[in-house]
Amino acid sequence: MRHLIDFGDLTRAEWDSLYQRCSEIMDHPADFMDACKGRVMASLFYEPSTRTNFSFQTAMLRVGGTVFGFADPNSTSTAKGETLKDTIKMVSGYADVVVMRNPKEGAAKAASLYSDVPVINAGDGGHMHPTQTTADLTTITRLRGGVDGLSVGLCGDLKNGRTVHSLIKALAKFKGIKFFLIAPRELAVPEYMRAFMRENGMWFTEVTGLEAVIPQLDVLYMTRIQRERFVDPLEYERNKGIYILTRRKLDRAKKDLLVMHPLPRVDEIAIDVDDDPRAVYFDQARYGMFARMALLTDLANQQRYKPEPVAIGTQPVCSNPNCITQTERYLPPLVKQNGGVDCCAYCDKELR
Ligand code: NCD
Repeated sequence: MRHLIDFGDLTRAEWDSLYQRCSEIMDHPADFMDACKGRVMASLFYEPSTRTNFSFQTAMLRVGGTVFGFADPNSTSTAKGETLKDTIKMVSGYADVVVMRNPKEGAAKAASLYSDVPVINAGDGGHMHPTQTTADLTTITRLRGGVDGLSVGLCGDLKNGRTVHSLIKALAKFKGIKFFLIAPRELAVPEYMRAFMRENGMWFTEVTGLEAVIPQLDVLYMTRIQRERFVDPLEYERNKGIYILTRRKLDRAKKDLLVMHPLPRVDEIAIDVDDDPRAVYFDQARYGMFARMALLTDLANQQRYKPEPVAIGTQPVCSNPNCITQTERYLPPLVKQNGGVDCCAYCDKELR
């Protein structure tokens, strides 16, 4: 593995060996204290973050590396009009691994074209968030012993929730997963995710009600309505507060259900659920740090290499207004196929 942009970049065998390392780190953290000694991580956060930013930083410190970066792009030359390409060229000259969160979909893919060191996608707009998925899979594997055969409810803003998209991509690598996609119609999963599930022969059903399906679930993955992604504020107003998991609703759930959430929560899980033994979202955040330690011991220790030159674009081929190609106009027009349909290789949206 060179970059981690999309969970689809990882084979099942690569995930299994990453998880293996993650368990060794959890069981014997002292053995890994110097695993990234002398290595430097750049942390470029163009969007707010608590868990992802801090867990990456603490992960790197715990494996003996060091960290620099920003959490406010206004403090960097981006504010002077520097392109993403130039920022990445510079930063990848100073660091051994680059962790980036950006509000534009496909930004991490774009960065990877120009970086001399591995790029890790810490969230690109409403698109993908693969390292949250490493936290999620670690949580499920550690607490349930495995992932195969589980019925997984994904609830909330499945349109804009990048953690959901990455988790679906990852669960395609396991057997016998059943998805209950619980969302209002306006916030259902994007078409490219539906095409992905069909292409991979995954079992899924789309419903609008949470309570009716709760009894069937092994994992309930709650998500926040992603206010910052709404173009129309009225659409947010219509959908906010639509799902609220309470202790009472959990009465009908399985005794060994895992209630998960990438966090931050707004109001979608009532505080009285926190003390239920099935609520594992704070543990999930901690598992995320161990998963990132495992990832960094691999990626921060790779050889530097000059990426192949890429074509210079002139105009975006993609019509998604939030795609990175809309603002970074020099990006090459890359196309890929999802379910036999031509899609933007940065943000996955179908090309029309
Ligand atoms: C998520 C994100 O940023 O996508 N948070 C996280 O990284 N743990 C979820 C969210 O913001 O709702």
